[in-house]
Amino acid sequence: MQAGYTTDVPFPATFAPQQAPIHVAAIAALSGVDGAFDDSFAYCDFGCGEGLTVALLAACYPQARFYGVDVNPAHIEAARAFAKGCAIDNVDFIEADFLAFESGALPPLDYAAISGVYSWLPAEKRRGLASIVSSGLKAGGACAVQYRCMPGVAPRIATDGLATFLAAQSSGASSARIVTALGAISNLLGAPDLPFNRVNPTARDYLKEQLAADPNYLAHDVLNADHAGVWFHQVAADFRASGLDFVAQLRPQMNACPDLFEPQLAQRFSLAAGGYDDPIAGQELINIAVNAGSRWDLFVKPRSGSTEARRTPPLRRLFVRGLAGVDHRAPRQALSGRVTVDLFAPVYDAALDMLASEDVAGETLMEKLAAQASETTARRALMNLLAIGLIGFSAAPSIETAAIAAPAFSATERRLLFETLRYEKPQPFPSRRLGNCVPLPLRDRAILASMAVDSVEAAWALIEEKGASVRTAGGREIMSLERFKAFLSEEGADFRAQRLPALLRLGLFQ
Ligand SMILES: C[S@@+](CC[C@H](N)C(=O)[O-])C[C@H]1O[C@@H](n2cnc3c(N)ncnc32)[C@H](O)[C@@H]1O
Repeated sequence: MQAGYTTDVPFPATFAPQQAPIHVAAIAALSGVDGAFDDSFAYCDFGCGEGLTVALLAACYPQARFYGVDVNPAHIEAARAFAKGCAIDNVDFIEADFLAFESGALPPLDYAAISGVYSWLPAEKRRGLASIVSSGLKAGGACAVQYRCMPGVAPRIATDGLATFLAAQSSGASSARIVTALGAISNLLGAPDLPFNRVNPTARDYLKEQLAADPNYLAHDVLNADHAGVWFHQVAADFRASGLDFVAQLRPQMNACPDLFEPQLAQRFSLAAGGYDDPIAGQELINIAVNAGSRWDLFVKPRSGSTEARRTPPLRRLFVRGLAGVDHRAPRQALSGRVTVDLFAPVYDAALDMLASEDVAGETLMEKLAAQASETTARRALMNLLAIGLIGFSAAPSIETAAIAAPAFSATERRLLFETLRYEKPQPFPSRRLGNCVPLPLRDRAILASMAVDSVEAAWALIEEKGASVRTAGGREIMSLERFKAFLSEEGADFRAQRLPALLRLGLFQ
């Protein structure tokens, strides 16, 4: 252990789309804060783990500079090897304790991210991290923070705390110690008529879930948890004390909550703590309503100067696209029956009509919508459309796929494609056009790999070498070259006709 944090086993790498600059900028702009970004920004991921997220984001924004800081030497080594292996050269990894970070070690930052770290630190270190991040950000800079929060995290406090205590009694790797401790508690809770089970009815299910998880994940998630439970208002106070203001949640559906709740719930909430008028209290009401156990929050460092001087066109340099296909009438009908927003209200109607057949520049869209409603109403409508999955944001407009004859793989895409063949779960692929990653299932990757190499035989050799278990759409595992050839002729044609144009439209493999 170093700096009180698990370092003897690696944290399993995952990609977090919420911390992508495009997403952060869009949520900021929809919340009325300048969300513009230039091509050449600086971004740092504090506690980057094995650097998957920050490296793939760097691949999405080749003009920008990315940094990942982590205290664990093995994480930094793996992160550097991954970036080098994938030919991503605009990211640097720094092995350091971010709490002892030298100011000036990084350029002034436009974006910062803290994911899977904050609520796992003791209170004084949380405040230290908020202050370090704030001093590293430019005025107007944004910080994405993911953490576990109360009240949803409450049921795990008792068993996580006990597991941490028990794990400290033994020696060996953190991953083995935490699994043994959780197993012992699970066994203990199996005792009949245990009063603990009556007041903690979800504990046994929760332990079952934990025991099915990756032990290395548990070594980081459970052993490092702050068992006091962190409330949103405490996090907001820590960031405010460091000079950063809360803007919104990075999960758009959470910002849409007040509009999407049952009217009766909304009414009860407006009677509690002044409703949503106080943004901090409003957030705690939402946390109670959805029993939030984790959050993705956006904080910004306010710009100085007058409000007028700070004002920039909303959604500048972002593009908005309709996601539900060309015919927006049908989904509008279905969705307006399920949610409380009226998708036929003029501002929604106008937005969906404009986005029905092409991507639209954010500024243009806002100008047109402002003719229907106030800017605030227009922004809120777009937040709700994002929340219910009818629109998305991108860094550049989609292109006509008819113009693209065949995929052309960049060095990064080719290497990522081959390297990720070993994983059965969908893998994130960077898109410059989107400014974010697209998850690709193994079946797609196997077909794409066969397009990226000279022959089907070479693709099959690669699949065998990586030990990939490719399955047909019917779920049958492909075990031989003959079956692979048959799979390519049966499913490859469909893929080329349907999936590939959609991926090309999103800016992959061009
Ligand atoms: C749970 S992992 C999260 C990794 C990544 N951000 C993600 O969300 O997948 C937390 C990371 O924070 C790093 N960390 C914890 N305390 C740190 C410190 N004081 N300085 C630098 N890194 C730290 C750990 O080594 C670990 O890699």
